[in-house]
Amino acid sequence: MTTVLITGGAGFIGSHVAERFLAEGWAVHLLDNLVTGKRSNIPAGATFHELDIRDAASAELIATLRPDVLVHLAAQMDVRKSVTDPMFDAQTNIVGSLNLLEAIRAHSPKTRVVFSSTGGAIYGDFTTPPNVETFEKNPESPYGIAKYAVELYLAYYGRVHGVESAVVRFGNVYGPRQDPHGEAGVVAIFCARLLEGRPVTVYGDGLQTRDYVYVGDVADVTWRAATAALPPVGQLDARAFNVGTGIATDVLRLATVLSAAAGVSVPVEHAPERPGEQRTSYLDIAKASQLLGWRPQVSLEEGLARSYAWFAERHAAAGTEQK
Ligand SMILES: NC(=O)c1ccc[n+]([C@@H]2O[C@H](COP(=O)([O-])OP(=O)(O)OC[C@H]3O[C@@H](n4cnc5c(N)ncnc54)[C@H](O)[C@@H]3O)[C@@H](O)[C@H]2O)c1
Repeated sequence: MTTVLITGGAGFIGSHVAERFLAEGWAVHLLDNLVTGKRSNIPAGATFHELDIRDAASAELIATLRPDVLVHLAAQMDVRKSVTDPMFDAQTNIVGSLNLLEAIRAHSPKTRVVFSSTGGAIYGDFTTPPNVETFEKNPESPYGIAKYAVELYLAYYGRVHGVESAVVRFGNVYGPRQDPHGEAGVVAIFCARLLEGRPVTVYGDGLQTRDYVYVGDVADVTWRAATAALPPVGQLDARAFNVGTGIATDVLRLATVLSAAAGVSVPVEHAPERPGEQRTSYLDIAKASQLLGWRPQVSLEEGLARSYAWFAERHAAAGTEQK
């Protein structure tokens, strides 16, 4: 049986990736310290290891398990927190990742690593979207710098030590089980406001754009990156794939589509623009389409409807518990 170890497997994206591998009949192991992940996210059939990626025990697990694939999703994933505490961000996102990669090099060199990078924070503000994988990288936050650093390490481990890897650079991922702190946190925040019948807050003119991609599509591309034939190891971007829809969606449109999906209308409040916020960001996804045979299947309308339904169910369950 083929084995996958998914770090961050009790998290939002990790739990959907776990379901995808389980559906393919793999032995699925999850590693998570539950800092933001939840036990309730762990799908039936997966084996759970409550560990921290920075600890020696995580390296030992890799040495014992020697998985066919390591999907590395565990991270400090709050961009704003990386700005206030760059040391903590680097300890988790760079040093924690290196702990795993060193274990792979020393004990499990045949494992393919699939790493979740960012298609938003890595390119910075100096490019004209849609961003192509080979565009210059100018990350504007310690979070983006850490993702970039791990990509560089992976390219090095590939060239020098023969470690197989692929990098998936996610846009703004949304869907059931997401929380408000991620790059697409706005979807979770707006859903909560709609359920409470309160106004949604839009910073600045609301015309800043992002590339929103549904979590089921993200799980599918991760599975493909773990199993497809990959181009030869080479420069940094050789095995990197943008993961988005190729569509720029502004915050006002997001609010409109979500309100329609929810069948609820609330006022939009404008707050001052947030300093340093990226204005336009969306991705060219031709490479993932050509080399991994992947295309996003879920439209924004459908994805937001599924997300709202999940939040509404959770809201109703919490209301019943309080009674
Ligand atoms: N959500 C997005 O829009 C988005 C966009 C681009 C990239 N990503 C990346 O995708 C990955 C998954 O993000 P997510 O949105 O599912 O967030 P998430 O917080 O739900 O998942 C991260 C998981 O990692 C775990 N974790 C954190 N630190 C750990 C540590 N030291 N040891 C072990 N486990 C630890 C958390 O408990 C959590 O379960 C992250 O690497 C993130 O940077 C997410």
